[in-house]
Amino acid sequence: MKIAILPGDGIGPEIVAEAVKVLKVLDLNFELETALVGGAAFEAHGHPLPEATLQLAKDADAILFGAVGDWKYDTLDRPLRPEQAILGLRKNLGLFANFRPAICYPQLVDASSLKRELVSGLDILIIRELTGDIYFGQPRGRRIATDGHFPGAEEAFDTMRYSRPEIERIAHVAFQAARKRGKRVTSVDKANVLETFQLWKEVVTEIGQQYPDVALDHMYVDNAAMQLVKAPKKFDVVVTGNMFGDILSDAAAMLTGSIGMLPSASLNDKNQGLYEPSHGSAPDIAGKGVANPLATILSAAMMLRFSLNQPEAAARIEQAVDKVLSQGLRTPDIYSDGTTRVGTVEMGDAVVKALG
Ligand code: NAI
Ligand code: MG
Repeated sequence: MKIAILPGDGIGPEIVAEAVKVLKVLDLNFELETALVGGAAFEAHGHPLPEATLQLAKDADAILFGAVGDWKYDTLDRPLRPEQAILGLRKNLGLFANFRPAICYPQLVDASSLKRELVSGLDILIIRELTGDIYFGQPRGRRIATDGHFPGAEEAFDTMRYSRPEIERIAHVAFQAARKRGKRVTSVDKANVLETFQLWKEVVTEIGQQYPDVALDHMYVDNAAMQLVKAPKKFDVVVTGNMFGDILSDAAAMLTGSIGMLPSASLNDKNQGLYEPSHGSAPDIAGKGVANPLATILSAAMMLRFSLNQPEAAARIEQAVDKVLSQGLRTPDIYSDGTTRVGTVEMGDAVVKALG
């Protein structure tokens, strides 16, 4: 089994180093190969996703990804920006299904921005379609408007689009995931305004008929945003498009206390996957040794479970994370009075130790 390790930039290298430490101590006979991506690859090779990195990712059974992006690259042409690396990997590997679990650990219930009773026991799964929608739809660009409110003015445009098969496959993923959990799917759309999401709603409804054991309901995205902060425990599996999923999953992340706790998996139809924390490269804390490595360590656990067929090893990592939280160890993002403040490396070491 070959794992491609792509640390990226910002806090990426710091947090990935801790996850690699954890993987190595499991002693599972994996081949780990590291490559540059994002800003780190741009600095070295002038491109955020060099051909060699893409090839390594394609050849690997799974990819462990850190994070990419820094404000200092914001002035680069779009194709050269670090974020293009993650978009390119998703597109080239066909990673259309993004799993973002939002679980509130009992030890961290007071780190949430919501009241304890609203989040205690929270365990929801957001499934975001990842290779379609307005992020990839053509045409897009800039032009001088010939119509609209300001003819003659500069304008920019993007295209929201989804095809029936794209919606069908993500719907199947959601219903199958729900079968293994609370047996409920909420499909989030904006069918009242957007034709794209009218089709989305129709297709999800059709696919839902193949899963009579799973309850399906539909919610407009604005209401979903409201319900997520009003009564998040009402959700089980939430399935939505690329842009709505991007926004809702970050909101769901904060319910759990810190985005530094949340792993993610992005899978294609061959169960090959890219595993990364839900957060970005956190340039504000990069290089300070304070980033929370647990989201990345938990992403490695998801990788073992989904792509490498090692569910016992995955469970061992999750139990070790639970144990260090119970020991009161906290990086600054989850720190509260009465707990012990630790840095990135200490947190990683503690997980390794808890693995026994
Ligand atoms: P971010 O997730 O990097 O940071 C948001 C806030 O959360 C910051 O205050 C940060 O310090 C904190 N944070 C994030 N991860 C943390 C961790 N592990 N431990 C402790 N605190 C943590 O999002 P932001 O600031 O919007 O974006 C920063 C850069 O990251 C941008 O260039 C953006 O494009 C990029 N980005 C990359 C992603 C990826 O690589 N997949 C995803 C999201 C953003
Ligand atoms: Mg996001």
